[in-house]
Amino acid sequence: MSDEVLDPGSDRSRSAQGPSRRGFLAGSVAASGLAGRGAAEGAGQGPAPGGPPVNPRLFTFIGGNAGGWSVVEARAIAGEPLPAVERLDIVAGAVAAPPGGAGWALRGVTSNERYATRVEKDQLVQAQAKLGRPEATLAALIPIRKSPKWWALTQDERRALFGDRSRHTEIGLNYLPAVARRLHHCRDLGEAEPFDFLTLFDYAPADAPAFDDLLAALRATEEWKFVEREVDIRLVRVDP
Ligand code: HEM
Repeated sequence: MSDEVLDPGSDRSRSAQGPSRRGFLAGSVAASGLAGRGAAEGAGQGPAPGGPPVNPRLFTFIGGNAGGWSVVEARAIAGEPLPAVERLDIVAGAVAAPPGGAGWALRGVTSNERYATRVEKDQLVQAQAKLGRPEATLAALIPIRKSPKWWALTQDERRALFGDRSRHTEIGLNYLPAVARRLHHCRDLGEAEPFDFLTLFDYAPADAPAFDDLLAALRATEEWKFVEREVDIRLVRVDP
């Protein structure tokens, strides 16, 4: 499929070469059980025997007309929107070819922390909940791209902006364990990735107002001045 279909709004996706991108997506992994079904269960294709090694930290998010989450709202907060879709499918692993009806496919990998201090990490580990709690029937997928200005900063400059000046983790900690989160990095997967991060959250309906407060607090920070594309996709779990 063409990259226009994957994400027509992205300058970076336009420059991608289909075959190399498809080649990269060819590996897949078994189900992780963590808010993502295994690629081999449906849309994705399993790894070719003798094919490239699979990456268990890779997740693919397919916007289309299938999947366990119904899209109730998708709003561009900054930059280009994504094509409207009805459902989101979260797949653990790579997907060789998104199914017919898919409007877009985004992928990202979980990774080590870059900014969290030891104290913050201990607080996070103690307070955080896992994605997929039965009561967490609402979710948000928020893909984000930061500006070249952000990426031109040094690690210590970014850390100061993220931590001391914007207090991202300190703000976020106030919303744990009500909101569960998983951060996926896209930037190092290739030049064609339309976003730098795919952020995923789930929460119970009673905590939806708190989640909106959290977003308002983060979007008012200095860190967010570097966000040049952000799409806020709200989801409701589809009962099996
Ligand atoms: C639920 C409460 C939240 C907590 C506890 C939290 C915590 C964190 C932490 C600790 C990191 C840094 C990881 C590292 O050290 O590399 C991080 C990164 C990030 N978070 Fe949050 N966060 C929360 C909510 C959010 C929300 C609602 C958004 C999006 C709207 C968001 C977007 C991001 C992004 C894009 C990054 C990557 C920043 C970068 O590397 O430049 N976070 N978050």
